[in-house]
Amino acid sequence: MRKFSRDRITAVKTLIETLIFERNQTSTMAQADIALIGLAVMGQNLILNMNDHGFVVCAFNRTVSKVHDFLNNEAKGTKVIGAESLKDMVSKLKKPCRIILLVKAGQAVDDFIDKLVPLLEPGDIIIDGGNSEYRDTTRRCKSLKEKNLLFVGSGVSGGEDGARYGPSLMPGGHKDAWPHLKDIFQSIAAKVGTGEPCCDWVGDEGAGHFVKMVHNGIEYGDMQLICEAYHLMKDVLCMNHDEMAQVFEQWNKTELDSFLIEITANILKFKDADGTNLLPKIRDSAGQKGTGKWTAISALEYGTPVTLIGEAVFARCLSSLKDERVQASKSLSGPQGVKFTGNKAQFLEDIRKALYASKIISYAQGFMLLRQAALEFGWSLNYGAIALMWRGGCIIRSVFLGKIKEAFDRNPELQSLLLDSFFSKAVQDCQDSWRRVVSTGVQQGIPMPSFTTALSFYDGYRHEMLPANLLQAQRDYFGAHTYELLSNPGTFIHTNWTGHGGKVSSSSYNA
Ligand SMILES: *[C@@H]1O[C@H](CO)[C@@H](O)[C@H](O)[C@H]1NC(C)=O
Ligand SMILES: *[C@@H]1O[C@H](CO)[C@@H](O)[C@H](O)[C@H]1NC(C)=O
Ligand SMILES: *[C@@H]1O[C@H](CO)[C@@H](O)[C@H](O)[C@H]1NC(C)=O
Repeated sequence: MRKFSRDRITAVKTLIETLIFERNQTSTMAQADIALIGLAVMGQNLILNMNDHGFVVCAFNRTVSKVHDFLNNEAKGTKVIGAESLKDMVSKLKKPCRIILLVKAGQAVDDFIDKLVPLLEPGDIIIDGGNSEYRDTTRRCKSLKEKNLLFVGSGVSGGEDGARYGPSLMPGGHKDAWPHLKDIFQSIAAKVGTGEPCCDWVGDEGAGHFVKMVHNGIEYGDMQLICEAYHLMKDVLCMNHDEMAQVFEQWNKTELDSFLIEITANILKFKDADGTNLLPKIRDSAGQKGTGKWTAISALEYGTPVTLIGEAVFARCLSSLKDERVQASKSLSGPQGVKFTGNKAQFLEDIRKALYASKIISYAQGFMLLRQAALEFGWSLNYGAIALMWRGGCIIRSVFLGKIKEAFDRNPELQSLLLDSFFSKAVQDCQDSWRRVVSTGVQQGIPMPSFTTALSFYDGYRHEMLPANLLQAQRDYFGAHTYELLSNPGTFIHTNWTGHGGKVSSSSYNA
């Protein structure tokens, strides 16, 4: 047997000891799975949620005393660690570094990215979980890609409670980041059905934040639809708040089963300190933070008829003209002496169906916008996965979204929800009720911008022939914009309508 020299054995022993020492060093230094910057309530809750699922999180805030406060209070007794500086934070992270920013959208995000970049190495990951505009996310994604860093913009929905116990997460950006995030993100996300997480990879660049924006737009639509149903119950059927609460509780057991219907029932029955209903005392002037507006602007930008969300945004704008409306109410009258004489129970069911049908239209429109954005930006979006992401955890969560997921499971390339057999049948079943509600409401002078626009969209969408032939003729008449003949699409011609017009068609002026 060959004998090793004493020197050789000592050398190997030293080497092993050095390796063990270094390993221990690294494991005490680089111990955190992920870092989170921004310790407002959302940030704190997301950290505690990750901690609950076994991840070691390193917390940081620009005001370092906030880190100490958090570790000594909310995070006391957890595995959460803190950092004194960004450099300290990065040194405590396992590789590749994963850093979530939960700071105010806009300049603050760029400022933190600029400070982080010199501290990071190729392959490290920055995730923006704030309410950023998708274009900013696309820009950041591209500029960090040039530096070999992986940027992710993730929609986070569900408010403070969602962040703590299961949000809906909509991550998009540099796809190489996903394998490093999937486990953490899907563990902390809301779960539905047999434990499916409300989180999946959305797509490239700003796709995650775009999907979050559309989610918020749909939320505006859902809320407006419920408000219109409430208005009809209150002013056509003259119901009191407790009666209405009961109706919403009933509706929560139907296809409309959803978070927003549920909280509406609770709001309607809520009593003030004096024992009377609080709701009628609340000033009817709606606020907004802008994400619904962004959805409507994108719809206009990409030429997609997302009419219901648009109307929901405008309804908030109209409501906020409270003083002007108070003035107008004194001089502008509505229909006189029309009283509802029909069957109350029947009309309530009509309202429910009108709400359901309009909701289908709104989601069909929202998914149309997603399709158009995917075309525009070359994203490949998984529509079924998006429906599942919204199924739980977020404000628009509902049983209904499970049906949308099923429709995209049946046909991933589905062009419109309205062309799916389940939804076309649902709208068909609702349409008589829907029309009765709209005509009754119009006769009684109740504003129903979302119910009516949804019905107009439906009637427009199902018409083979719309009066746009006249529109094309008008454009050609006054501006020589040319038109196509039904018998020869693709060929644009101009007609000498007046007998004194020229032959030259317009190319620079487009009306
Ligand atoms: C720091 O924490 C406060 C709340 O304590 C939060 O409002 C702020 O956004 C955080 N800012 C940053 C940049 O970490
Ligand atoms: C609404 O339905 C859900 C179950 O789908 C239930 O958890 C919730 O308590 C219901 N809410 C109301 C107010 O009835
Ligand atoms: C348009 O029609 C009138 C009357 O038929 C004719 O006099 C005129 O030349 C036409 N214009 C052109 C540019 O063809």
